[in-house]
Amino acid sequence: MSRFADKVIIVTGASAGIGRATALAFAAEGATIAIAARSEDRLTSLADEIKAAGGSALVVVADVADRDQVSRMVETVVAALGRVDILVNNAGIGLMGAVMETSPDDLKRVVDVNVYGLIWCTQAVLPHMIARKSGQIINVSSVVGKRAMPYMAGYCLSKFAVQAFSESLRIEVKPHNIDVIVICPTRTATDFGDTPLMQQSQRRLDLNGMSSESVARIILKASRKRKREVVISMGARFLTFCNGLAPGLVDRGIAFVWDRLAKPEK
Ligand SMILES: NC(=O)c1ccc[n+]([C@@H]2O[C@H](COP(=O)([O-])OP(=O)(O)OC[C@H]3O[C@@H](n4cnc5c(N)ncnc54)[C@H](OP(=O)(O)O)[C@@H]3O)[C@@H](O)[C@H]2O)c1
Repeated sequence: MSRFADKVIIVTGASAGIGRATALAFAAEGATIAIAARSEDRLTSLADEIKAAGGSALVVVADVADRDQVSRMVETVVAALGRVDILVNNAGIGLMGAVMETSPDDLKRVVDVNVYGLIWCTQAVLPHMIARKSGQIINVSSVVGKRAMPYMAGYCLSKFAVQAFSESLRIEVKPHNIDVIVICPTRTATDFGDTPLMQQSQRRLDLNGMSSESVARIILKASRKRKREVVISMGARFLTFCNGLAPGLVDRGIAFVWDRLAKPEK
């Protein structure tokens, strides 16, 4: 029997991309999935897909940046399913643009969703996990939470905050038998780059990377093996290793490569 059979798992940002693939992968292992995001229609069609494959899913519409909606989301899940075994904090948005182009509202929104959203979800599930002395919090960060890139300072700082929060929390909750796992994907082929905050800059980031399904498989493996952190891809691990040794050299390398990755529009 799968390790995830009968587990209750909340996946935030489950209506698309990595979250959707992760929900499907956990459901295929026999877990009951609470799928959360703002787009009810997309969540409903995902729940139908999970149920058609013999799985079990609960739709919970919530904006993770809204603390009251997050509280209601977790109350709904606990009332309907009895507990939360695993929380996958995946909901996130990007923000492209030079520091001088970045508006206070856009910066606030990316921090509200990527940082506070993740904190509100964690704070809402922790009392339930602590009471049961068991649980896993899986935080989807990014390789740019290990080494920042130009023209996306707001997004990078949000992912550095996820790293810091996770490191701190991991030690606090270990006595309660709760794991904190950080996943750092690299470029993944999703709709992430199509949102207004990613499209508004004159720079465009090519996100043709690995598939959401591959990232989902890595998330399941990290959960099964109770990993501390997974930096996805050899290239990303090499980058973070080199950055520890020679950050100035890495700055120059990034400036060179970035011009090919994020081309200004003509
Ligand atoms: N794609 C990449 O290259 C890449 C690389 C590294 C890390 N990541 C990280 O991976 C995670 C997933 O990204 P993705 O590529 O799968 O992006 P995506 O395809 O754009 O999906 C993002 C998901 O987050 C949800 N979401 C956005 N704002 C939300 C909010 N305020 N409340 C609740 N849900 C919200 C969206 O649903 P609704 O719009 O329905 O709310 C959607 O389900 C993010 O944390 C991202 O930072 C992505």
